[in-house]
Amino acid sequence: MQYIMKGGTPLAGDVIISGAKNAALGILAAAIMTDESVIIENLPNVRDINVILNAMKEIGVVVEMIGDHKVKINGANIHKVVVDNAHIKKIRAGYYLLGALAGKYRHAEVALPGGCNIGSRPIDQHLKGFQTLGMDTVVEHGLVKVDAKRLVGGHVYLDMVSVGATINVMLAAVLAKGSTTIENAAKEPHVVDVANMLNTMGANVRGAGTDTIRIRGVERLHGTDYSIIPDQIEAGTFMFAAAVTHGDVTVHNIIPQHMDAITAKLREMGCEISEFDESIRVVGKSQLKSCNVKTLPYPGFPTDMQPQICVALSLAAGRGVVTESIFESRFKYVDELTKMGAHVKVESNVAVIDGVRRLTGAELNAPDLRAGAALVLAGLCAEGITTVNDIEYIMRGYEDFDRKLRELGAVIELVDDEAEAKKFRFRVG
Ligand code: EPZ
Repeated sequence: MQYIMKGGTPLAGDVIISGAKNAALGILAAAIMTDESVIIENLPNVRDINVILNAMKEIGVVVEMIGDHKVKINGANIHKVVVDNAHIKKIRAGYYLLGALAGKYRHAEVALPGGCNIGSRPIDQHLKGFQTLGMDTVVEHGLVKVDAKRLVGGHVYLDMVSVGATINVMLAAVLAKGSTTIENAAKEPHVVDVANMLNTMGANVRGAGTDTIRIRGVERLHGTDYSIIPDQIEAGTFMFAAAVTHGDVTVHNIIPQHMDAITAKLREMGCEISEFDESIRVVGKSQLKSCNVKTLPYPGFPTDMQPQICVALSLAAGRGVVTESIFESRFKYVDELTKMGAHVKVESNVAVIDGVRRLTGAELNAPDLRAGAALVLAGLCAEGITTVNDIEYIMRGYEDFDRKLRELGAVIELVDDEAEAKKFRFRVG
């Protein structure tokens, strides 16, 4: 399977953004912490979500899709707290099942997390947090095992801002005895969303969205009906798609405030942005201006948007410097961009990008989810035909990416083999 596209068409029109994948992963784990049914709406239909739903089914969770983006979860009959299938090893967020199962059953074993290969991704902060809550933790035979005779509240100071550790500790702490404080907590919108969802289940979580989260443990959680927030990164990706193709796109079903760092950079690069209650319109100018950017935890510029802004800088006037401060190996896609004629020099965690007048189509491999999406954006503004392989990465986090792009006028198709690719080439000339 690959995406094949012909660049050069300015994207125009409206796109509806799906629910946030990274919020959904935490929320699905939270949903199994009660024996009552939980309904989750605005669930994105992407591969990582299906992996976690399947892993949940294997341990006895009843998962019923009651709409395209609506699922009913019931965790009353969980018969196993060991989660170790071939698929869960490939995603990062399987680790949320540790916090959720340990909170509910005081014991859990989950395969060591995988996820996109964007640098070393330790889980020491998750384990430190669990230990503070009274758990014994051990990693053996590829499994992380946590066990608590008593789960008690405690004071957790995270050494670095970690989305995963913040959510995981929060999950376990809502059912611990007494109060927990998480300091230096991540403030990402999806952290707040998981906290809000837990509160609708009867948890007592305060301060999510600030540096300090305070959790008062409760005896039990109950069912809820909860709608997931829109995906900030999917929205940002489409905003950059508008910018790089000199298009005019309105992204709908979003929370504009979550987009502030992205909007600010697009404005700096010369795009015209209009904000509405639940949508943002981006009009790309014929020549983008360069800028410098450093990825930071929220509310800073997201690391998950770093490849997309690099594509835009590749076509901007002047030199831009991009500093990646979250993951050390997140510039793997640069070799692919170079094949298209981009001028990018990477040294350690800094990329220096000298804008060029044009990119040219090439055969590319997606090295991870966000970089894969960024290479598609590059293909959409390059001259001629571009193919992007290994698109399973992109499907992990973007729902119907090619369909949404086509609806904006992009000339792109998902093809299964060379014969279909040939037909595409013949059709588009
Ligand atoms: C989440 O990963 C997201 N994944 C990532 O999105 C995102 O890039 C990242 O947060 C940063 O925003 C999910 O939500 C499933 P971290 P996570 O813990 O939680 C270090 C995507 O494309 N660290 O916030 O794994 C870590 O190495 C993905 O959707 C430790 O050292 O990220 C990194 O340098 C890719 N020890 C920094 O903290 C720990 O125990 C931030 O990582 C935990 C993290």
